[in-house]
Amino acid sequence: MTGGANRFVRAAVLEAACAALMVFLLMGCLPVATAGADESRGRLLYENHCASCHDKRLHERDQRLPENLGELQREVDRWQRNQGLHWGREEIADVVDYLNASQYRF
Ligand code: HEC
Repeated sequence: MTGGANRFVRAAVLEAACAALMVFLLMGCLPVATAGADESRGRLLYENHCASCHDKRLHERDQRLPENLGELQREVDRWQRNQGLHWGREEIADVVDYLNASQYRF
């Protein structure tokens, strides 16, 4: 009988350990996922600083300004200067990534 109780306790401990491990793994994964996803950071930057003026349609208009990745980069840089945002190369690249992936696809 004690053997049966022990088995039960052992199973419960194992289950708890598994649950803890899952939580641990999940928490360990999340920051990695966001750290690697520049596009999502670019999206946040864009939504916070740029989207107030133009909605998505601007980037789909027929005579859209940028015709290649370099020009898109220049546009984003021009606009962030314009707004006095002092973005570094990484922020600009993230927003370019986001816009390119969601709109331009150069
Ligand atoms: C004050 C309003 C305003 C803000 C803020 C603004 N934009 Fe613009 N944006 C415009 C207008 C108006 C145009 C279209 C005329 C032009 O290109 O000069 C434009 C055009 C663009 C284009 C070219 C679109 C195309 O396909 O032709 C890009 C790219 C762009 N903006 C990026 C940005 C980014 C990145 C930010 C944030 C750093 C930003 N803009 C913030 C008003 C704004």
